[in-house]
Amino acid sequence: MSEAESYGDGTRVVRAGLPEPEPGEPFRPGPVLASVFALDPDTGPVPGRDSYGRPDNPTWRRLEAAIGELEGGECLTFATGMAAISALLFTVLRPGDTVVLPADGYYLTRAFAQRELTPRGVTVRLVPTAGPYPSFAGVRLVLLESPANPGLDVCDIAEVAAAAHAHGAVVAVDNTTATPLGQTPLALGADVVVASGTKALTGHSDVLLGYVACRDAALVELIRSWRNATGGIPGPVDAWLAHRSLATLDLRLARQSENAAAVATLLAGHPAVRSVRWPGLPTDPSTVVASRQMRRLPGVVTFELAGPAAVAAFVRASRLVTAATSFGGLHTTADRRAQWGDDVPAGLVRLSCGIETTADLVADIAQALDAAARVDEP
Ligand SMILES: Cc1ncc(COP(=O)(O)O)c(C=O)c1O
Repeated sequence: MSEAESYGDGTRVVRAGLPEPEPGEPFRPGPVLASVFALDPDTGPVPGRDSYGRPDNPTWRRLEAAIGELEGGECLTFATGMAAISALLFTVLRPGDTVVLPADGYYLTRAFAQRELTPRGVTVRLVPTAGPYPSFAGVRLVLLESPANPGLDVCDIAEVAAAAHAHGAVVAVDNTTATPLGQTPLALGADVVVASGTKALTGHSDVLLGYVACRDAALVELIRSWRNATGGIPGPVDAWLAHRSLATLDLRLARQSENAAAVATLLAGHPAVRSVRWPGLPTDPSTVVASRQMRRLPGVVTFELAGPAAVAAFVRASRLVTAATSFGGLHTTADRRAQWGDDVPAGLVRLSCGIETTADLVADIAQALDAAARVDEP
């Protein structure tokens, strides 16, 4: 174990990717805003020296070093999570291949694969995150999402990865909801991590980001070459903001998870709520596997109210919950997922707990649920 790996999470995130201090230089370098870098007139481009802003930027490299340290693999950052996911799919899959995707994961991954890969001769097989998983014979790539968004089912990553590896499949995990402080899929046996850094990783609702992390140097180079050719790179200011935000990940996740625990308990006992999912509830179907493979639980809680009118009344009555998509931010947000086309009940809400004071949030949500209970669903 390296010295950095032996530190606690707070120390790891605050130091991740920082350069060695140089007297007189900024403690944390600012963003390098460059589309071009000067070339040596004699040698021209030289490997290892920056030349052009699409393949090269020192600000991303620091962020990539930071995320790579946390995930335990080499990291490549992208403009968004979807840029990272599509890079993986297009780099690994060829006509005639089969890919297994979560039936209940982020809807756009599924929709994108069906729209873009199926016509290119790739068979797209959908499997619920909680299983049962079919034989992986003939499968080229398995992309898991655990916990799955929005239903929060989980799968045993080590077990599924071993079964898929037995048939030679590549195993990737979308680690968006957990973040690398919540779980490290590469250490659990996955080959690749993909994620949206737009959510809890950066957590301030002001940056779009994605990344791939992987220990296979050849695959990293294929994905880097894909990124260079397709140009889905993060801007240097976004990369710099993301790196700044990463330093508080431990603190933010701790409060989000504490808030989620309190809110999930409240929801579980409220008559307006038909069902609630959070892997930390002792009765939740995900709790056994989540507590085994996750180091901490997410701030996202999913619950069901009577329908769209009850959800609207809930959000209107709350002073602390804002209707917004995305999750993992500082502020508590609620998203009625059916409005985006998820195949879920009309009153299903993905609630992303922010870092507000727990007692304030619980009191606010309790009175908003009372308001939702008074609504007659048309
Ligand atoms: C689990 C998951 N993966 C990937 C994405 C896509 O990320 P982005 O919006 O950064 O492209 C999302 C977005 O919500 C997500 O929830």
